[in-house]
Order: sequence, then structure tokens, then C-alpha cells
Amino acid sequence: MTSDLSSGIEVRQTVDWFRRYLFLERSCIKALAGWFLKVPEYETKIGMGYQLWAHAERATELRARLQELRGGHSEANVEPALARVADEILNAPDPNSFLTGWQVLIDRLSEAYRFHLEQADGSANAQEVRILRRILVDIEQSRAWLKTHFKQYSQTWASRIQAFLDSAGGVQGVGIRPSPPESSGAHFVWPDKYVFDERICEDRFENYSRRIELPFEQRRIAEMEIFFNEFYAAGLLATILFDSWSARAPWEFYRDLAHHFWDEVRHAEFGMIRLKELGVQPSRLDLSLFYASQTMPFLHRLCYLTLGLEVYFMPRKRPRVERYGSAGDRRTQLFADVDWSDEGNHVQYGKRWVDYFLTDDARTVEDLQSEIADYLKAAGIDLPEGQLAPY
Ligand SMILES: [Fe+2]
Ligand SMILES: [Fe+2]
Repeated sequence: MTSDLSSGIEVRQTVDWFRRYLFLERSCIKALAGWFLKVPEYETKIGMGYQLWAHAERATELRARLQELRGGHSEANVEPALARVADEILNAPDPNSFLTGWQVLIDRLSEAYRFHLEQADGSANAQEVRILRRILVDIEQSRAWLKTHFKQYSQTWASRIQAFLDSAGGVQGVGIRPSPPESSGAHFVWPDKYVFDERICEDRFENYSRRIELPFEQRRIAEMEIFFNEFYAAGLLATILFDSWSARAPWEFYRDLAHHFWDEVRHAEFGMIRLKELGVQPSRLDLSLFYASQTMPFLHRLCYLTLGLEVYFMPRKRPRVERYGSAGDRRTQLFADVDWSDEGNHVQYGKRWVDYFLTDDARTVEDLQSEIADYLKAAGIDLPEGQLAPY
């Protein structure tokens, strides 16, 4: 196809820009995983889950194209000034500053993608044009979500992040580069608590065997609270994503983790949606399993969730779908059906990546499981033989 666009972009330039986009999109995954635990409103957490996966999908597309080009290592080629932008966004002093910095970056990325498209040649750069058109539609949806849901924009912090970006020459590195502001010296630290606002209190749910004895309506509410409680799994995965970042695992590992994380966020969202439809405001969470996992290394956390808890909960899935189906509750059945399917994937992710991390390790999965049992005992989780969750 001939082009009426401008002069086109040679391979070296394409690769340089794609590496920068990829680095920035990927850096948002780690930052969102970290801040997921600190942002108090559960609706915002759910939105962040969607956005984290959007970053991962865009990164996957960019990365796939880079691998087809004369590209080089995508992180070895990142200039320090651009890395500082990512650090500064992560090291924000509070949730609103973080969300502001992230929004500034999304706005600038969107402009960069648009500029790239304007410069591209419709024939020579045809593959990038197709990718960038898709990415642009996607990132515009991210911008729209932020504009609608995030109202506490901090102008001071936005200017600061913009100044760091300017000092890197902008997303594409082609602008005039003023000196960067002084680093604040702040460093992202995990919160002591998994933060939720005052609408949510920490509680203990009834045991499974008691829950299934409840009359239909009560049991349905209780089961939707268990869905909402999947925030425990989402939080756990956020910590795995964050802590495994320096492990330099294959991209597919981070992509699977991002997908898994987003699924758990959606499962919590299923609970939120259905509870509200049934006239109940979500008000309680049992985060005991999340907290119990936090002394474990990330590999143990991954194994605990995917090959312990998710396998343990699996036999409940099919009967739940069938029961809502036969009761004529198609809406709850839909959510239970999708959850069941997603959970099958999660166990597969667990098998693949626990095996990967145990390569050249003297331990087996069973050894890992017994180490996990020791961690749980030390964390005070004391359940009857064969029972992995208190609810
Ligand atoms: Fe789930
Ligand atoms: Fe799951």
C-alpha cells in the first residue's frame, strides 16, 4: 500500500522507540502491582487490575515486533534518564501522587504513539502501523478510565514527573533535555497492611461446611462475599509480580502472572457486582491467607496459591455452576462458570512456572509444599489435616 504519511522511520529509529515504549509500559506493571496494595478504594484497585493487564498486552505486542527487528536487548539499551522516570513514578509519596505520575506517563505514551504513527510510512513501516493503531485505541481507553475515575490529580507531582520525562528527552528521547529535578530520595516500601478504605473491615468467614448448609439466598450472599474476598489472591499475586521483577524470568512468566492477577481482580469484581445487585454493600474481607503468605519467598507464594489453594478450591467449582443453573440464577451462574474456567488456567500457570524456577534446584514441588507448611505454621495458620483454607 502506498502512503500519504511522512518520510517513514528507519529500523534503528523504530527499534529505539519501541524499546523505550516497551520499557515504560513494563515499568507500569511493576509500579501498579506495588501500589495495588496501597490504594484504598476497592473500585480503584479493580480498575488498576484492568490497567495492569492492558500494559502487559501492549508490552507483549511491542516485544513481539522488537524480536522481529534488528533489536538488541530491550533493557540493556535503556538509558538511565528513562529508568529514573520509572523509578520516580514508583517512588511516589502517596497513592494520589502515584496515580498522577502514572497518568502523566500514559498521556505522554499516547502522544508518542500518535506521533510515531504520523511519521510512519504506510508500506515500509506497515507492521508497526498496525500495532500502533491497536495500541493507540487501547491506551486511549486507559486515559478515559483515569479521567473518569481519578479526580485528585496533583499538579505539583505531575510537573515533577513531566520534568523527569523532559530530562530523558521525552518518551522518544528526541526533545531538548533540561537537567532533571533532584531526586526526592523516597523509596517505595510495602505497606504493613493491605490497605482498604473505611467501608471494609477485616473479618472471618464461616467455614465451608457451615456455608453449604445455609438456605439458598443466604448462601448466595456468602458465596459472593467469597468472590469479593479474591482480593486476597489478587494481593498475593501483586506481591509475587513485584518481588519477582528482579528475577529476570522470561517475559511469558510476567505476562502469565499479570493475567492471573487481573483474573483474581475480576473475580473480586464479580463478587462486588453481584453483592450490589443483591442489595448488599461489600463490607468485609478475610485476608488471613494473604498475610500468612507474606513471610514466604515469591516462589513459595506462587506454589502455595496455584498448586495449594487453587487446587484445593477446585472441586467446589462445578457443583456451584450447576446449582445456580438449576436454580435459574443465570447471572450468578455466569460468574461462577467463568471463575471455574479461569481457575483451571491458574493451576496450569503454577505447574509451568514452579517447574521453571525449580530447574537446577535440588528440591521437588513436594519439598516446596512442606516448606510452605512450615511457613504457615510459623504464621499461626493452624487448620485441621487436609483443610487449606478457613472458609
Ligand atoms: Fe479466583
Ligand atoms: Fe485463581
